[in-house]
Amino acid sequence: MKDNDPRMPYQLPFPKDALEEIVIPDAVPQDERLWVPQAENVWFRPLCLNRSQGYWMNLLKVRKAGVLSRHRHPQPVHGFVLKGRWHYLEHDWEATPGAYVYEPPGETHTLVVPEDVEEMITYFQVNGVMCYVDPWGEVLGYEDVFTKIELCRKHFTEVGLGEDYVERFIR
Ligand SMILES: [Fe+2]
Repeated sequence: MKDNDPRMPYQLPFPKDALEEIVIPDAVPQDERLWVPQAENVWFRPLCLNRSQGYWMNLLKVRKAGVLSRHRHPQPVHGFVLKGRWHYLEHDWEATPGAYVYEPPGETHTLVVPEDVEEMITYFQVNGVMCYVDPWGEVLGYEDVFTKIELCRKHFTEVGLGEDYVERFIR
């Protein structure tokens, strides 16, 4: 009979085609250079840039009175608020620390941080694409995992971490 000690680790090799795990001890980074500028008063901190499935996991940081421009999500978004408060102009609820938020496909919203909040940090999983739109839905631009990777590359080069620094977040 095979040993089935619950504390015995799995004994076989992982599939040879499996990707490597990502472990980031300081997800909210000590090193400010890891915050990639995205717009005025808006930064993101990459955690997993999943180019093979077309989504990205990141911390979004918005400072005082910052706005994340109006955009449409054709695919779902999951968020978990770590710090500060924010709301969407299109909804009457407020996101506060500890809150989980699910945004269904079809959402179009504008994220606003109130004047009295120094900064907010929220963990977001964004799938597919974000289409920046005017108030009537006309598309003005977009972001996807590839534009995110490029923004990281450019920023990490500028701050001296090197353009390859982003590779650790890519799967
Ligand atoms: Fe969004």
